[in-house]
Amino acid sequence: MTIHNKTALVTGASRGIGRAIAHALALQGAKRILLVARHRQRLEVVAAELAQLGTEAIVLPVDLTDAVRVNVVIAQAWQQYGPVHLLVNCAGVAIRLPFCKPSCPGAI
Ligand SMILES: NC(=O)c1ccc[n+]([C@@H]2O[C@H](COP(=O)([O-])OP(=O)(O)OC[C@H]3O[C@@H](n4cnc5c(N)ncnc54)[C@H](OP(=O)(O)O)[C@@H]3O)[C@@H](O)[C@H]2O)c1
Repeated sequence: MTIHNKTALVTGASRGIGRAIAHALALQGAKRILLVARHRQRLEVVAAELAQLGTEAIVLPVDLTDAVRVNVVIAQAWQQYGPVHLLVNCAGVAIRLPFCKPSCPGAI
């Protein structure tokens, strides 16, 4: 499938892997990318970066743990921007812990 002229939706798009994927999709000619994460300001920064690459970026700030709100936001986006051809679910959290107790030699 070619992404050229298509609409993509990327969750976790405000930073990290999601942001990098949004950039890659823009570079491959995506027509429009819907950017999802909780923080509007961070999404707007990414949207401005994608606009520089010639891709229309739509900011959709929403907490994905709020299923009701997600349904509303996505239904509105569908009405306004039409179907999503490619979905990239990248939102998530990583919990980093040491393998051993703080008393272990070398533990952080
Ligand atoms: N980086 C790695 O090497 C690596 C390796 C394997 C797996 N992973 C997994 O891949 C995923 C992404 O990794 P990453 O490094 O890109 O993480 P990251 O830099 O922490 O980015 C996480 C993204 O998810 C969004 N997000 C988090 N909770 C959300 C929520 N409740 N609703 C909406 N958006 C939410 C964050 O935006 P807001 O804070 O604005 O909501 C952010 O855009 C994570 O699940 C991570 O565990 C990462």
